[in-house]
Amino acid sequence: MDKNIVILGFMGTGKTAVAKKIANDLRMQFVETDSIIEEREGISINEIFSAKGEPYFRKVEADVVKELSNKKGLVISAGGGVVLNPDNIKELQKNCILICLNATPEEIYKRVQDEKHRPLLKVNDPLKKIKDLLNYRKPYYNKIKLQIDTTGKSIEDVVGEVKKCIR
Ligand code: S3P
Repeated sequence: MDKNIVILGFMGTGKTAVAKKIANDLRMQFVETDSIIEEREGISINEIFSAKGEPYFRKVEADVVKELSNKKGLVISAGGGVVLNPDNIKELQKNCILICLNATPEEIYKRVQDEKHRPLLKVNDPLKKIKDLLNYRKPYYNKIKLQIDTTGKSIEDVVGEVKKCIR
């Protein structure tokens, strides 16, 4: 496929697992914006947030999005905040099929509670933070036409739905 496939959506909606399986099934190349940022900066996402701040992270993220959107044949797992910058979406829409995964706050909480690599969820009440962030971001995620609800579904179920969307 000439076009890239971009999997967007909130943290814990299964973007990475889904994107990896699609890439494997369709013999495309899997890439993840967060991993590229970590490689480029030589430190973890947590460390970038604490040492350099979120605005710096967003700037590097936008650079990475722009570079990836000019390539071909990729399945891109995009960080949960990529949708917040309209320039990112404009770039991606040039040569990519955009698909947004979503899930209920409770399901997201269940999926991320044992993970420590998300700076935005290092708070006393992560479920409340998830609900607040989702409320704020809903209009941004809703701008993506193709939406898949992942609540209660397996990775295979979601991959099947993504394949239907891109046919
Ligand atoms: C973020 C999501 C994270 C990562 C960073 C910020 C966000 O990626 O980019 O911690 O703003 O939602 P995942 O969605 O892959 O966890």
